[in-house]
Amino acid sequence: MYEGQPQSLVFLIVYASIVVVANGDYLIGLGSYDMTGPAAGVNMMGYANMEQVTGGIHFRLRARAFIVAEITQGTRIAFVNLDAGMASQLVTIKVLERLKSRYGDLYKEDNVAISGTHTHAGPGGYLQYITYSITSLGFVPQSFDALVNAIELSIVQAHENLKPGSIFINSGDVENAGINRSPSAYLFNPPDERAKYRHDVDTLMTLLKFVDKKSGKSVGAFSWFATHGTSMSRDNKLISGDNKGAAARFFEDWFNASNDTSSSYNHRRLKDSRALLKQASRIKATGGQSCTKTASQLYKVRKNDESRFVGAFCQSNVGDVSPNVLGAFCLDTGKPCDFNRSSCHGDDQLCVGRGPGYPDEILSTKIIGERQFQKAVDLFTSTEEEINGKIDYRLVYLNFTDIEVVLDGNQVVKTCPAALGPGFAAGTTDGPGVFGFQQGDTEINEFWKKVRDAIQEPSQYQVDCQKPKAVLLDTGEMFWPYSWAPEILPIQILRLGQLVILSVPGEFTTMAGRRLREAVKETLISNGNGEFNDDTNVIIAGLSNTYSQYVATFEEYEQQRYEAASTLYGPHTLSAYIQEFKKLAESLARGDKNVGRGPSPPDLSSVQISLLADPSGDSPPPGVKFGDIKQDVKNGPFKVGDRINATFWSANPRYDLLTEGTFSLVEMLQEDRLIPAFDDDDFCLYFKWDGPFFSSAGLYGLATIEWEVRHGTKPGVYRLRHYGSFRTAKDSPVNYFTGASSGFVVS
Ligand SMILES: *[C@@H]1O[C@H](CO)[C@@H](O)[C@H](O)[C@H]1NC(C)=O
Ligand SMILES: *[C@@H]1O[C@H](CO)[C@@H](O)[C@H](O)[C@H]1NC(C)=O
Ligand SMILES: *[C@@H]1O[C@H](CO)[C@@H](O)[C@H](O)[C@H]1NC(C)=O
Ligand SMILES: *[C@@H]1O[C@H](CO)[C@@H](O)[C@H](O)[C@H]1NC(C)=O
Repeated sequence: MYEGQPQSLVFLIVYASIVVVANGDYLIGLGSYDMTGPAAGVNMMGYANMEQVTGGIHFRLRARAFIVAEITQGTRIAFVNLDAGMASQLVTIKVLERLKSRYGDLYKEDNVAISGTHTHAGPGGYLQYITYSITSLGFVPQSFDALVNAIELSIVQAHENLKPGSIFINSGDVENAGINRSPSAYLFNPPDERAKYRHDVDTLMTLLKFVDKKSGKSVGAFSWFATHGTSMSRDNKLISGDNKGAAARFFEDWFNASNDTSSSYNHRRLKDSRALLKQASRIKATGGQSCTKTASQLYKVRKNDESRFVGAFCQSNVGDVSPNVLGAFCLDTGKPCDFNRSSCHGDDQLCVGRGPGYPDEILSTKIIGERQFQKAVDLFTSTEEEINGKIDYRLVYLNFTDIEVVLDGNQVVKTCPAALGPGFAAGTTDGPGVFGFQQGDTEINEFWKKVRDAIQEPSQYQVDCQKPKAVLLDTGEMFWPYSWAPEILPIQILRLGQLVILSVPGEFTTMAGRRLREAVKETLISNGNGEFNDDTNVIIAGLSNTYSQYVATFEEYEQQRYEAASTLYGPHTLSAYIQEFKKLAESLARGDKNVGRGPSPPDLSSVQISLLADPSGDSPPPGVKFGDIKQDVKNGPFKVGDRINATFWSANPRYDLLTEGTFSLVEMLQEDRLIPAFDDDDFCLYFKWDGPFFSSAGLYGLATIEWEVRHGTKPGVYRLRHYGSFRTAKDSPVNYFTGASSGFVVS
């Protein structure tokens, strides 16, 4: 225990000797770090839409981590939640390498879980298998590095924050934050199984609350609930954490606001509006000025201090759950789509789901985020059940291409090499596909067969194995220029007292998740010597550690909608998971540590192809400087509901991501100083980037800072500020700049 960190050991011994440690106490630490990747010109991960490239930031992405350790043994688990589409095998491998060099064997593959929220609005190119990096033109080192750094540093922060504390658990139903987007497939599940559940989606949210022992103050909360990160559409260009990132932002801000005793703003009687206007008129737009990178960090609203409360919203069995809760309708007729195929008179592209803010996707993101946030607040404030009991974990790697599965009745079947069916190409009602395929297709026409065979003709074994899926893309048999799909997948169990987390490397449908949870729970109870019972919470952490698309039930697989067509390893994929998870659960329940580790997943970093060029030098057009105002704010006064914007001459935001900093800032006049009021992390502030454009001097861009004045904004004098950076040539040094709009009044 505690290899490589004698200070903690000393700390522990000292602490243990002065504090009477009650049963159920742990060391807990939380951390959070900015993981926002390149905000211009990089394909977004999720919809596989080549035209969807980043063009600014709605709000920043974060990696949020907790570590829990047993006080006596030091046995620990770390869980990291990413505002990302999914975890990535290569990211996991690199993070583990870095943790090993920092901490020795303290944090390893089996006790660290990295899970994605499934936002579809983050920069892509960080996965190592070809299928997941085609639309991003291959591997994007900048996206990758932003993730790896943030995960590492969130864990470092959590590690350095480790202090005695207690953990509480609570669960309850979230209303109307998800609907089943493949209800016809759900109906294929046996009636007696369906009869056990009220809904065709899981509505339960499970929340952990972390409380510092010494101060009695809450330091964080993590919750799990299943709904897709597709409130933002396939046409969105702004980086966003989607509804879960929004919920996290709201929760952290709520906590801060409700615990903020330092009344930083003196609510003096408001000056009359004339005086305000006079003050505003004295604040002239400032031209572009050079500054340092730290300026963008110094003037952030939320400082990255380690005492900050961390609130995370994690993903679960999300496979068939859509946040577009109004349902899917035909764009041409406005009528509901075909039930079985989610198309409109044969056209899948016309059938699109609607969020509760339809047609405003930002509003939908906010509403679905708020529904999760509100429930999390309820659970957080009302929880009484304390976590106590062991910390434990198990992980095993499996080669999913040929697992022998023994079904009930002793029939032996096998999983298959990965393949995608036509229903995959049809997409979903959250993001329809292309090429005229429909969900539910089990045939491929001659034309597409020829195209497929030109890429890779599937073996007869594969064709038979995958049935009733028709093999459209034989990704499991494609290795040029390197692997298209994963073969080796990790499955993992983390135990924290009466909570058991199943880390799955994909998107389980609602019923697939239920089956897995129940099977694991039964196994734990029957092997656990009384340590587990009906009240044991078994939850699924989706999209964890690596990514392998979907897992539908055997029955759902019959219909071959999107989720089934994307279930890579054939009809028995779920049965294989259940069989292998039961083995893992049994070894955990019996305290048997000798589960084999299985085959290592490959590290394909050395063969990655990157076709997306880095920006290679920007220069402002003649007569202007970067940071100069191109279009100033209009004359106020403005009021709640107004959108205020200013446009600046700017450079490509990829020269420096301004990590833990900000591209956009709203400043407010207080006394005689302008202090930060909103930044890149705020839901009400948008950084929109457009470019590159050409001038006789070279390339440049335009940055528009737009502020939506929300309820609760204090009346006063404000201005908009922009930070950015540029190089003049590929290898020249990075220069930093800033500029600000004129002052204006919000009344
Ligand atoms: C909490 O909110 C106050 C304003 O209400 C702000 O001054 C402070 O910086 C915030 N703290 C954190 C850690 O975000
Ligand atoms: C959907 O398909 C099933 C058979 O797979 C069929 O029984 C049902 O009638 C279809 N429903 C609609 C509305 O077309
Ligand atoms: C996985 O199993 C298949 C089939 O047995 C085999 O061909 C392949 O090499 C294995 N993959 C790895 C990475 O071990
Ligand atoms: C800025 O606001 C004006 C209205 O004041 C609007 O016409 C313009 O489209 C906005 N610009 C951007 C980039 O949002």
